[in-house]
Amino acid sequence: MEFSCKDFKVGKCQGQKLVDGESMPLVLQPPKADKADMESLLLALKTNKDWFEQLIIKNSAVLLRGFDVKNAQDFNDIVEAFGWDDIRYVGPAPRTHVHKRVWTANEGPLSEFIYYHHEMVLIKESPKTLLLFCEVPPPEGGETPFVPSFRVTERMLEEFPEAVEEMEAKGLQYSFTALSKNDTSSMRGRGWEDTFGTSDRKEAERSQKCKKCYRAEALGMDLEWLPNGGVKAVLGPRSLTRVFDRRKGRRMWFNTVVGMHGKEISSASMADGTEIPENVVKRCGEIIEEESIQFKWEKGDVAIFDNMALLHGRRPSKPPRRVLVATCK
Ligand SMILES: [Fe+2]
Repeated sequence: MEFSCKDFKVGKCQGQKLVDGESMPLVLQPPKADKADMESLLLALKTNKDWFEQLIIKNSAVLLRGFDVKNAQDFNDIVEAFGWDDIRYVGPAPRTHVHKRVWTANEGPLSEFIYYHHEMVLIKESPKTLLLFCEVPPPEGGETPFVPSFRVTERMLEEFPEAVEEMEAKGLQYSFTALSKNDTSSMRGRGWEDTFGTSDRKEAERSQKCKKCYRAEALGMDLEWLPNGGVKAVLGPRSLTRVFDRRKGRRMWFNTVVGMHGKEISSASMADGTEIPENVVKRCGEIIEEESIQFKWEKGDVAIFDNMALLHGRRPSKPPRRVLVATCK
């Protein structure tokens, strides 16, 4: 698909890479200075909705830059212009609702690195698309690096073909411990009450058939209650890689082995209990870092990520930094 759209001009940004012939991120700017206003942008998005959707899949990451996106309301208008359904966030990050479909991104301490992940990778239904809006760009650090997931699989297969196929064949098992009550001093501070939307243990365990259910059984995890009021969740078996429709048959590294393996509050092993070799995990972490792409946030930037195709994270940041997020089906 060649680029042809009179409503956007292709730009460049620092850190951009060419991956398999495609720019990541693809930077789209106003075609003319007098088309940078919200009204023109919303019209351009609505007029070119199908084209834009294909573009996100083709390039995996699109960065709208140079438009006059000022606040959560403007960002929400952009999210709604695409017309994709909302998907509720389930996971460990402490987040605050800001406006309609807009939430703060992880409110864990800015000094900490949020490790690379596909959003909600452990949940049965993860978002297809993530939208991020930079309201206050960090003075230093605070990038949102992202990684073309298929590249990680390719390189892991080159270096560890047997380990990869063994993990794939056996499947993975994860565990993590959630504290009780919200504690924003940690990135994992989202208490189980909040994660499961209830403070009732039985209710947290129960499976409900309604679509709005986010509780343990519906999420495919077993819970073990701990003496301190926290809970240990065990999930699995889960796949190592996944191939999604319309993603060129690419095998995505759709797992969170590096993020959860051998940590104080989490673990990852093969589903039959076989340990994942330490050197495989360590090397995988290096590959993920080597394949990562980062741009410097500018005020008003809107980044759109194909969550099926990209891992993303957050680098440590000097304050202030305010990046808002919306997740879509
Ligand atoms: Fe995330």
